[in-house]
Amino acid sequence: MLEIKNLRKSYDANVILDDISLSIENGEILSILGPSGCGKTTLLNSILGLTSINEGQIIYGGKDYTKYSMKKRGFNIVFQDYSLFAHINVEKNIRYGLKNFPGLSTEEEIQEMIELLDLKPHLQKRIDQLSGGQKQRVALARTLVMKPQILLLDEPLSALDGVIKENIKARIEQIAQQLNLTMIIVTHDPEEALTMSDKVLILNEGKIAQFGSPQDIIERPADQFVEKFILNQLIIKKEKILTLFG
Ligand SMILES: Nc1ncnc2c1ncn2[C@@H]1O[C@H](COP(=O)(O)OP(=O)(O)OP(=O)(O)O)[C@@H](O)[C@H]1O
Ligand SMILES: [Mg+2]
Repeated sequence: MLEIKNLRKSYDANVILDDISLSIENGEILSILGPSGCGKTTLLNSILGLTSINEGQIIYGGKDYTKYSMKKRGFNIVFQDYSLFAHINVEKNIRYGLKNFPGLSTEEEIQEMIELLDLKPHLQKRIDQLSGGQKQRVALARTLVMKPQILLLDEPLSALDGVIKENIKARIEQIAQQLNLTMIIVTHDPEEALTMSDKVLILNEGKIAQFGSPQDIIERPADQFVEKFILNQLIIKKEKILTLFG
């Protein structure tokens, strides 16, 4: 279980995250939703250990991780821009992190991940020869062979749309299940959050607007902000679709 207790983060006098508390069980998917600038990336970076926090605790498996370095935490992140190495091919990108940790994934496990993400036909290609969705899959494979205890994804699907997005969403869900992976996904798409996750965190200006199951949020939105931000966007989408089909 990952527990965040009363986390507070500020830059100078600006409070960016205020009294954030939540918990997720191992193997669960948590989505973080909220308007631009509300603190989503800062929260991910705080969990990852990339950003220091001012107050609060990060507890994982009953142990206090708050003072642990990023490396010691053993969490891993796929950044929004993927941060792949352009000058080496797909296969080398996937194996890159294992150079320093040989044996963390067996050869069989690496091959399995390549199969699972359908990257076999692309192994010898350079990164600039790939589509957005293919890059996304390489970034996921490269991170997953490192066997992170928790996988953090910052808007992983935002660059994608349509069928590719559905495909990758399905793959992420499949991998999460197969590996019993705990995942935290930042998204700005309420539909994605409500359909993919076990828990949803809605942030507004650095504070928790609501934290609960998708069902809680749909059936019992905590306040007007949640109702407006989440539900209206869904309704607008539904109306758009209905208009399209007459
Ligand atoms: N290193 C920093 N120094 C000062 N302020 C920062 C720093 N990083 C982020 N902020 C501020 O913290 C706030 C939250 O930023 P954050 O990147 O977490 O937002 P976000 O929810 O991820 O937004 P977006 O949806 O646009 O990615 C913003 O007001 C931002 O300007
Ligand atoms: Mg962000």
